[in-house]
Amino acid sequence: RLPEPFTVPLPLPPVLAPVSRDATTDYYRITARPADVTVLPGYSTRIWGYNGVFPGPTVVSDRSRRTVVTHRNELPVPMVVHLHGGHVPEDSDGYPTDLLYPVGDSGQMIGMPGMAAHSDPLAHTAIGERDYSYPAGQPAATLWYHDHRMDYTGPAVWRGLAGFHLVTDEHESRLGLPTGDRDLPLLLADRAFDAQGAFSYPAPEPMRSPQPGATGRFERGVLGDVVLVNGAPWPLHRVATARYRLRLLNGSNARVYRLRFDRAGGAVPLVQIGSDGGLLTGPEELAELTIAPGERYDVVVDFSGCAVGDRITVHNDLGAGTTTRVMCFEVTDRVTDTSTVPDRLAAVETLDRSAAVTTRRFAFRRGTDGAASGWLINGRAYDPGTPIARPALGQVEIWQLWTDLDHPIHLHLNQFQVLSRNGGAPARTDRGWKDTLYLTATGTAEIAVRFTDYAGRFVLHCHNLEHEDMAMMATFTTLAG
Ligand code: C2O
Ligand code: CU
Repeated sequence: RLPEPFTVPLPLPPVLAPVSRDATTDYYRITARPADVTVLPGYSTRIWGYNGVFPGPTVVSDRSRRTVVTHRNELPVPMVVHLHGGHVPEDSDGYPTDLLYPVGDSGQMIGMPGMAAHSDPLAHTAIGERDYSYPAGQPAATLWYHDHRMDYTGPAVWRGLAGFHLVTDEHESRLGLPTGDRDLPLLLADRAFDAQGAFSYPAPEPMRSPQPGATGRFERGVLGDVVLVNGAPWPLHRVATARYRLRLLNGSNARVYRLRFDRAGGAVPLVQIGSDGGLLTGPEELAELTIAPGERYDVVVDFSGCAVGDRITVHNDLGAGTTTRVMCFEVTDRVTDTSTVPDRLAAVETLDRSAAVTTRRFAFRRGTDGAASGWLINGRAYDPGTPIARPALGQVEIWQLWTDLDHPIHLHLNQFQVLSRNGGAPARTDRGWKDTLYLTATGTAEIAVRFTDYAGRFVLHCHNLEHEDMAMMATFTTLAG
């Protein structure tokens, strides 16, 4: 039995404390393990969680300090952790074949048949634990981390392997934006459950062809009928008459939301202050917001005009039935708010089209590549061995993205800027530094990107996780300039 919407309190993921610190670096430990938690009231649900919770603990990094996370694998399967939106070297990026085998695995999983990831000669693999190092220097932004294992990302994230990683900096903290318990990370994810309250992932694992039925029945990816925010179904959160900063993250496998905040029939405006890669130059008022898997929107919502007792409901206008609602805020306290949203938030460099040295074209389409038929990039299924592009570090490039159906397209290593959509102007919500761009059916976009600092192997892919697992992913190799 599903709970009534807006009865379960909104959980906030725990903020992870460092295990140690030195002059330059904060050190953390995260153990991925199975755990039994309450998702639906009255039921126990087996998850795979970072430190046994879903969402995983929130890592908060300061821009001026390096962050090292020791990842430990106590799952029954290999894993690999990607910091989504992080500007990090290839050996800490979580390349899909860089498997971390479970603690105590003495090789029985290594070479397991049917797992393509085991046979990549360039992979950096380890057993039990390994350190991932995230350099200092990235501006304040809402990042997240999640599993990225080749062919199995969809079911692994569905089981709970996702969490926030926030970067803060001095500039942002001086702006006067809402902070503390008025700065809320919100991870949206839909799930389906069986009658015992267990997560039910209906697709075959892996979904790569020639698995029967993969592309047909799950062509659009795996959807659930329960909308979770921070792991709770349609939660309720009590707020004061003040501004709140909401760091919206779509951590769903495949569901796209169009969010609208509503108070007794009237829309409550959202003021966008940040995008995937950090703050915008200035705030942008929006009536609604479309958010696709992998994307983040940092918005401020002002409840100061509300009365105690008011309820503000978050609707999903792309949903149907149980997925039309997301969560609810209830105003319970009258306070004096001293937060502000300044007109000027950050200096954002503009990547200039005329500076581009290369234009590349990537078609995200269904097709057939040898024995593989499914979701492809430029007609090819994901193959770790063969890069699709070799961009030089430091150069601006224009990448043209083409899609047959809806695909949220994600690049590792650097954020990009949107130059055009469907031959015209970018959308209002395309401003700032993006790392995931949602294109709808037969769409095109041009983005400007400049890869910097780290030579090596990275990926671009569709962030519909089932599309990604069905091979809509490609390697690009950055070359030192
Ligand atoms: Cu959020 Cu390559 O992934
Ligand atoms: Cu896709």
